[in-house]
Amino acid sequence: MSTFNQIFLITGGSRGLGKGFASAIVQRGGKVIIVDILKEVGEATEKELNETHPGQCLFYEGDVTDELLMRNIWEDSEKKLDGKIGVLVNNAGIFNAADWKKTMNINLISVMQMSYIALEKMNIKSGGSGGTIINVASLAGLVYATVHEAIPYFVSKSAVVSFTKSLACSNVLENYGVKVAALCPTLSDTQMIKENTLADMMKSSNMVPLTVEKVANDFIGLLEDMYNEKAKNGEIMCVCSKSQYVNVDKFDLHELILPESE
Ligand SMILES: NC(=O)c1ccc[n+]([C@@H]2O[C@H](COP(=O)([O-])OP(=O)(O)OC[C@H]3O[C@@H](n4cnc5c(N)ncnc54)[C@H](O)[C@@H]3O)[C@@H](O)[C@H]2O)c1
Repeated sequence: MSTFNQIFLITGGSRGLGKGFASAIVQRGGKVIIVDILKEVGEATEKELNETHPGQCLFYEGDVTDELLMRNIWEDSEKKLDGKIGVLVNNAGIFNAADWKKTMNINLISVMQMSYIALEKMNIKSGGSGGTIINVASLAGLVYATVHEAIPYFVSKSAVVSFTKSLACSNVLENYGVKVAALCPTLSDTQMIKENTLADMMKSSNMVPLTVEKVANDFIGLLEDMYNEKAKNGEIMCVCSKSQYVNVDKFDLHELILPESE
């Protein structure tokens, strides 16, 4: 199985970064299932991608917080595309300053839920073919919030980074034939930053947002590195002008818990 000649499921892929990832994948010969709550936008993206790459994109309207629906979509899309999903991209996310529980549900709980569905389906010990999970976290997952409205978003994204590292550190993935990594873009030019206070933060800090193409390009690089084994399982990629893999290990647990005499 080559890096791109397989089936990808991208949550929140109707627009923004997810659409950029979907477009980069179909251009390389892959097939993409997009799951998004935005029906009309998703249908338009499906049409657009299939115009240039017929039969390579399949859109489903769906809310990532609906576990049963996500399971049904997973199974139905595998039947329709006549193959197993090889890569899950947990990309759907929101920045909702008014509703912190909704932010946690979409940005964290759904990422964990989708990952557990993927682990179950991909597990080589129960008939799966293995696979890859890419979690779209954020630079916000590597630093702390400095404004009150941003706290839920930052907390959700740092938990996604922690979830990614924890999965990689546990022996589950190896037994299942699954690899995991997280992508942490800095501010990027999508509707998300235009629709809320992130836009104001950006203006006041003179930050120049990344283009969707730049983030999609680094996403492709991360996938290639994972398949060529240049990237470790659990790799965290910070996407910025000088993108790099970052070390988020906080302490050496063994040093902390071993008695001094040892
Ligand atoms: N734009 C940035 O500056 C930036 C930076 C770092 C990380 N990110 C992350 O990148 C990911 C994509 O964001 P984006 O910038 O492209 O924003 P976006 O708003 O353009 O795209 C997010 C997509 O997720 C979908 N979505 C939201 N809730 C959903 C739900 N419950 N079920 C299904 N789909 C849902 C939206 O409809 C939309 O299509 C998010 O996880 C975001 O946190 C964005």
